[in-house]
Amino acid sequence: TRTYLVTGAASGIGKATAALLRSRGHNVIGADLKDSDINADLSTVQGREHLIHAAEELSGGVLDGVIAVAGLSHPIPVTAAVNYYGTVATLEGLRPLLTRSPAPRAVAVASMASLQPFDEELVRLLLEGTEQDALARAAELATTPATGHQIYSSSKRALARWLRTTAPTAEWAGAGIPLNAIAPGVVLTPMTTELVATPEGRAKLNEQVPMPLNGPFDADVAAKLLVWLADEENSHLCGQVIFIDGGYDAVLRGDST
Ligand code: NAI
Repeated sequence: TRTYLVTGAASGIGKATAALLRSRGHNVIGADLKDSDINADLSTVQGREHLIHAAEELSGGVLDGVIAVAGLSHPIPVTAAVNYYGTVATLEGLRPLLTRSPAPRAVAVASMASLQPFDEELVRLLLEGTEQDALARAAELATTPATGHQIYSSSKRALARWLRTTAPTAEWAGAGIPLNAIAPGVVLTPMTTELVATPEGRAKLNEQVPMPLNGPFDADVAAKLLVWLADEENSHLCGQVIFIDGGYDAVLRGDST
């Protein structure tokens, strides 16, 4: 039996992940805005600190796996705060608890959206600037619908870059902790309910995000991969962002390997 912490555990992919882990007999500490073992707002510094302290208490100081799923896709600055800073704070803040496990694993959720148009300046500020400056840039992008959507893609792109450069370092790979991510295509969760509600919506989405292998999928499909990445069986994947997207990544950049 292993002990996992899952953020975003109250809905969608996080909920499916927590349920799958529990069905396999593991202990799960769920975190989300509400209705969870730990209720914390990951868009704020206080919420992130609360998550870490509460996780220390509830876990007894040791975690075998951290699965950072919480995120949102609205074209507003808080999206960057949760998706990038909230996820990085979760992984970095809980890393000391992972180091006490005999087989620690960490996984995040990026997105196929990182392959879509993004704002280079916001990505740079997320990775190298202050949170205040990055959120100010996001507020500029939020003023028009076209650029507003780039807040989400930029947050996921920055997260993927952070993860790929962080995973091989002494703190992670050097400490024996595989750190990886999944980048899902369209998953049928509350996040996408509106997008797929009408035939026109589905057709538009299919044009924007072609998924030739079986199309959009349920949350448990993503959960199974997250659970494997956080399992002891995954001993040598490091800094991988695995596109589980029915082929969208391969359609878009199949010649990039
Ligand atoms: P969801 O909306 O069903 O679940 C997201 C969860 O994150 C919610 O329970 C929400 O309360 C929580 N959350 C949002 N803001 C938070 C905050 N400030 N503090 C703490 N928790 C917060 O959406 P879904 O689809 O399960 O999304 C999970 C992850 O998967 C997200 O990171 C999302 O960006 C990513 N993703 C989703 C895709 C999709 O098509 N549904 C595609 C690619 C990535």
